[in-house]
Amino acid sequence: MTDTYEHHDYDVLIIGAGGAGLRAAIEAKQRGLSVALVTKSLLGKAHTVMAEGGMAAALGNVYPEDNWQVHFRDTMRGGKYLNNYRMAELHAKEAPDRVLELEQWGALFDRTPSGKILQRDFGGHRYARLAHVGDRTGLELIRTLQQKVVSMGTDVFMECKVLRLVHDASGKAAGAVAYWRATGEFVTFAAKAVVLATGGAGKSWKFTSNSWECTGDGHAMALWAGARLIDMECVQFHPTGMVWPLSVRGLLVTEGVRGDGGVLRNAEGKRFMFDYVAPMFRAETAESEDEGDRWYEDHSAGRRPPELLPRDEVARAINTEVKAGRGSPHGGVFLDIASRRTPEFIRRRLPSMYHQFMELAGVDITREAMEIGPTCHYFMGGVQVDADSAATAVPGLFAAGEVAGGMHGANRLGGNSLSDLVVFGRRAGMGAADWVESGEAATSMDSSEVEAAVAAALAPFERESGENPYDVHHDLQEMMQANVGIIRTQSELDEAKERLVELAERVARVRVTGGRAYNPGWNLATDLPSMITVSRCVTEGARRRTESRGGHTREDFPTADERLGTLNFAQSCPDGTWDGEYRIEESPLLAMPAELKALLEEAH
Ligand code: FUM
Repeated sequence: MTDTYEHHDYDVLIIGAGGAGLRAAIEAKQRGLSVALVTKSLLGKAHTVMAEGGMAAALGNVYPEDNWQVHFRDTMRGGKYLNNYRMAELHAKEAPDRVLELEQWGALFDRTPSGKILQRDFGGHRYARLAHVGDRTGLELIRTLQQKVVSMGTDVFMECKVLRLVHDASGKAAGAVAYWRATGEFVTFAAKAVVLATGGAGKSWKFTSNSWECTGDGHAMALWAGARLIDMECVQFHPTGMVWPLSVRGLLVTEGVRGDGGVLRNAEGKRFMFDYVAPMFRAETAESEDEGDRWYEDHSAGRRPPELLPRDEVARAINTEVKAGRGSPHGGVFLDIASRRTPEFIRRRLPSMYHQFMELAGVDITREAMEIGPTCHYFMGGVQVDADSAATAVPGLFAAGEVAGGMHGANRLGGNSLSDLVVFGRRAGMGAADWVESGEAATSMDSSEVEAAVAAALAPFERESGENPYDVHHDLQEMMQANVGIIRTQSELDEAKERLVELAERVARVRVTGGRAYNPGWNLATDLPSMITVSRCVTEGARRRTESRGGHTREDFPTADERLGTLNFAQSCPDGTWDGEYRIEESPLLAMPAELKALLEEAH
């Protein structure tokens, strides 16, 4: 299209090389298409590895009574019914096949004594349902998919950061413009279909399990390109992140610790979760330690321990204990598996947690309790997609994995993200391939969009004065943590909205010095517009959702609102500029077929 920059032509361009991007690449390659997989990081290094404890799928290996219907019900219930029901249905039905496929491709899951794939307990799942590899499941998933992608001869572009999606003259997705982190040189990719698989956006918060890559690039680029973002207010704070030492605050402590028998205690040594069972879960949650403990040995014995309530419930309870002055010395609570399992069991089932605490905190988790607290972990909100094809509102643009919204409603159950990645990664690959084969795809890129993106990226070098991008990022994180955190109020959200206007003005003035090759300050300067976009959308969604539902808790509206439970908030950006006006509107939930509704009603 232009000889100004390095240029590549593909049938399918996939942005992001976590589980969803890798699985989409496999599908499109299997259809005989040319595929480019672009990642701003290194292949194998994706937030997917932070889903440690397992991958939820109703295989029925440990509890034969498990099936897709129960998994569907648990997912909808965990999401407080804000989910796209069709995504939850496809996910529950297809997850078992995706697990078995991974096994065929070489994933080494833990085993039951009879040699089946072992399944572990996690919060909100009625049965032990998580296929796992110790506490390194995400890593095994990435390793397996990556091996497959590479063996199929897929072209992988690493350390290549995509700046903007590019349309053709009629508004179809036609490719993207990026730069190489190593050289700072620009590169364009023309493609008939584009799949966004960029993951989440936790780096706008101070305490997060997310690594540097999670800056919401895909959410933002989709919005700027004309897609809609839904449920952005629904951000998951995983109950158990490390709180000490400060340098690793937020680092994930897998829910597998609780799934394998770990319990939460406050500074008084009390198992406080018994005090926080919401009426919705009362009938199936244990009322006493004895009752809860029996369940660990034999699920059919009774009701679940309250530590295995959905994540939103547990995170809020921890927050309340800390605020009430019953927290641990470093502002969390205690997670104790040492008094409940043998050292041998702990080291075998939770090897990464053992090493993580030993090496980073000098804590031996086979002898001592861990100090933990909530950490920003996952975006339930994201790009609005068609469940079956992963298509967005922009023709030729698809989205899968964490960047896509709808599947998890207002709160995601642990373990549902790894299965989401492969179920919808595959479907996005199929949707993209169908689009390419339809003959309707774009055939040229609008070069003015490329030039505008390049000019915007270079602007920080051209300013004679301006702020350091790190200062702006620091202030953004502090502000989002304080004002748009786990518990929200109108006045704090209103203040956040005002502060974001100031922060956007500061982003527009950041200055970068030095060359373009491996310049982390410049890389951050190019990430900041995405982080501001995502923060604006989360804040606006949170202002409008005047109720508490799932991961979105309003202190001033502590209960769920019936009418708001029937709709998503959908945000759009009509002029495509990150610092322009965004619109927010109510988008009614899809009507659920009677047979699925009946599954939910049975549960009540
Ligand atoms: O706790 C964990 O292992 C995280 C899993 C997930 O987010 O699905």
